[in-house]
Amino acid sequence: MKQTTRAPRAALDLLVFALLLSTFAPLRAAQTSRTARPTRSRADSRRGAEPAPAWWKRAVFYEIYPRSFQDSDGDGVGDLDGITSRLEYLARLGVDAVWITPFYPSPQVDFGYDVSDYEAVDPQFGTLADFDRLIKEAHRRKIKVVIDFVLNHTSDQHPFFKESRSSRENPKRDWYIWRDPRPDGSRPNNWSSSFGPVAWTLDEQTGQFYYHYFYPQQPELNWRNPEVERRMFETVRFWLRRGADGFRLDAVNYLFEDPRLRDNPVLPELRPGTTTGEHLQEKKYNRDLPEVQDVMVRLRAFNDRVNPASVLIGEAYVPKWEELMRYYGPADNGVHLPFNFFLIMEPARTHLDANVFRSVVEASEKALRGRWTTYVLSNHDNPRHYDRYGDGAHNDLIAKLAATMLLTLRGSPFLYYGEEIGMVTTEPKTIDEVRDPVGRRYWPANKGRDGERTPMQWDASPNAGFTRGTPWLPVPPSARAKNVGAQEDDPNSLLNFYRQLIALRRRAPALLDGEYASLGEDPKLFAYWRKSRTQTMVVALNMSGEARTLNLGGGGLSASDFRVALSSRPRKRGQLTDGELALAPFEAVILEASGR
Ligand code: NOJ
Ligand code: MG
Repeated sequence: MKQTTRAPRAALDLLVFALLLSTFAPLRAAQTSRTARPTRSRADSRRGAEPAPAWWKRAVFYEIYPRSFQDSDGDGVGDLDGITSRLEYLARLGVDAVWITPFYPSPQVDFGYDVSDYEAVDPQFGTLADFDRLIKEAHRRKIKVVIDFVLNHTSDQHPFFKESRSSRENPKRDWYIWRDPRPDGSRPNNWSSSFGPVAWTLDEQTGQFYYHYFYPQQPELNWRNPEVERRMFETVRFWLRRGADGFRLDAVNYLFEDPRLRDNPVLPELRPGTTTGEHLQEKKYNRDLPEVQDVMVRLRAFNDRVNPASVLIGEAYVPKWEELMRYYGPADNGVHLPFNFFLIMEPARTHLDANVFRSVVEASEKALRGRWTTYVLSNHDNPRHYDRYGDGAHNDLIAKLAATMLLTLRGSPFLYYGEEIGMVTTEPKTIDEVRDPVGRRYWPANKGRDGERTPMQWDASPNAGFTRGTPWLPVPPSARAKNVGAQEDDPNSLLNFYRQLIALRRRAPALLDGEYASLGEDPKLFAYWRKSRTQTMVVALNMSGEARTLNLGGGGLSASDFRVALSSRPRKRGQLTDGELALAPFEAVILEASGR
């Protein structure tokens, strides 16, 4: 990483901290003198008038890939009843919300992201009655349920598409993107598909091509047609009325395409693992068109009318913060939480490097200007961070460090099932084992996404407690040693560390919604303040195999003002007396400033 702004940084940190302290000091004074008549500053009374923060600002989210979480009927595929049976586990972990990836009827070409009916449950996942029970049981435990909304495309088996493809005159023809071949018979433009190679498929019967950014079995809806919007919004109403607490909006940056279908600029780089001239493209004409934002604003208004407490979470992998910011809407009237994937993207994706993380988080803070964000390290489309960051020798310790960061940054953390026990990415060994079609196409350069979708490891039994049948993906050999059962009883396990972290976060105003400021510029140590009106905390993450020290002087506090609230290595909790915090290799420590 280039380090050009090192020198002014320390000064800036101090300045930011001094400013924060000067804001907090009078408020603390007003709070402690109970007998004095409260004198409220203007800022204070403004704060007093603020409504309680929305639930999703304080929530820890947990992503469930339903195929792989818990099977209840022995068919080897996880299901809704399986999730319901594990709600107690989730409640104990301390999560506030689950996000369940698609469970709607689907040919399962893209494992549910090819929906053939938006308002039902695929029989392999259960029934609508199972969904209702899941909602009831989750809500009883104060767990919210967010579901996936796959609005950019349907399955080619959806009745909408079947009608659309039946003839050029069909009233639903315009619900999808159909185009004539070019005069030489070739496809309408050069756009490539995310899953490769090309984004157009010819329909022999009607002689036109249809557009699909993903698999050919996922034709893209035409969001320029108002009927499409109206019908898709009805789906939102359907699930909100059934008790869903919000939506994760799938691939939402691909909703619109250039009306003139201009060719995308071709980049010099080849698609990794290809030798046949498949070049990467700048997705200038099929990603993030401004019209997307108009739909987001209307969707938000629709959502707010049906259930104002519901949340919209946008999935958009964009290269720059400035593009992501647009999703919040011109007047913060768009998506509540556009996913912040910058910790999953290079360089943070693969580098456990304090400078990298510090700069990613600072860039987020700078772009956000106080708005709320998410933090996420793993999901069903990316190799698990356990092995992305692990060095092979300290993996569990590094996993605790990553968890500490995820759960203490200023934003809503998203956990991915199994990360709390350190599940590893387990890729298929041969091409015949691959279930994700993209892995078959680009084997072995890209083995697909099966590796991060293996069954949840509940216990040491042969199928890890996931199913009594044959699991749809093999249970990783690591399950024998690494499972919920084994970690339950070990006070130092990763699972118990996640529980402690989540519990600490829940009761710490500074971690829930305090300000963020980086602390120091050690290239091996990522440290930061979190400060609310009533509490100050310091998080110190030693991202190296060497001992480090963090100087706690400055900012008006000294080391003796701090006590250790949580550490990833055995150490005494309590006051620090030695003037600075000494950290062991890969240690993560959370300090609370006491008495302030
Ligand atoms: C993003 C989803 O997370 C991914 O799994 C899926 O393949 C694509 N969108 C297409 O729906
Ligand atoms: Mg589209």
